[in-house]
Amino acid sequence: MIHYKTAAEIEIMRHSCLLVGKTHAALAKILKPGITSKQVNDLAETFIRDNGGIPSFLNYGGTYPFATCISVNDAVVHGFPSTHELKDGDIVSLDIGIYKNGFHGDSAYTYAIGEVTEEAKRLLKVTKESLYKGIDKARQGNRVGDIAFAIQEHTEKKNGYGVVRDLVGHGLGRSLHEEPQVPNYGKRGTLAKLKAGMVLAIEPMINMGVKEVYQEEDGWTIRTNDGQPSAHFEHDVYITKGAPDILSSFEEIEIAEKANTNLSWSY
Ligand code: MF3
Ligand code: CO
Repeated sequence: MIHYKTAAEIEIMRHSCLLVGKTHAALAKILKPGITSKQVNDLAETFIRDNGGIPSFLNYGGTYPFATCISVNDAVVHGFPSTHELKDGDIVSLDIGIYKNGFHGDSAYTYAIGEVTEEAKRLLKVTKESLYKGIDKARQGNRVGDIAFAIQEHTEKKNGYGVVRDLVGHGLGRSLHEEPQVPNYGKRGTLAKLKAGMVLAIEPMINMGVKEVYQEEDGWTIRTNDGQPSAHFEHDVYITKGAPDILSSFEEIEIAEKANTNLSWSY
């Protein structure tokens, strides 16, 4: 069942979603070669709790053992933070969820550590662009398939990348995962009809090479079959009668990313 949100609930959600962006921005300031993903995770958890939130992912399904997912290079999503050090040339997808005041915020961003290849920069740029192309279709009267088609068109058709099929975006609210599912591939005019009051977490997971992925022995980490890198950007979007209302924000992340000389960005 789809949970439609009231205007008052949306403002509570907006706070949770913006707090996710602030957590990202705090991390974007300190990402650098040599830091371990566990250190990044622990800083995120401290920031979340200091701001009155609870990490949404911690103990998800009774089994996810960390506050965040940190997925490096060929890891697509659900990577475990570890003592492995980030290094120059890595692309690092950081996925953060925060539960606060009864509602979740959920947003992912992929960072380029040091100098990454031009191909990697293009992957980040195109994946982020595809997110906004999907969001542009998130309007009352359209369907989930319109979002899916727009993302696939930009990434797979126009740029030759692989759209991950096995994982999808989702409704968001009092639960981290609500209906409907939001795939990043599909046909226009199909799937659930979009109506004012819905909140969707739209999250293209885009592989530089093949679309196929596998799950690691740890039961969580998803990696590309061909070992090529993957990118992930995620926003939370409120469907209104008019323009899509993006509840999460990349604004502070992008400022921090550009100010951090240990990161390169994709424009
Ligand atoms: N953003 C991801 C999602 O919406 C993160 C989930 S990680 C989990 O599915 F641990 F919570 F599963
Ligand atoms: Co999500």
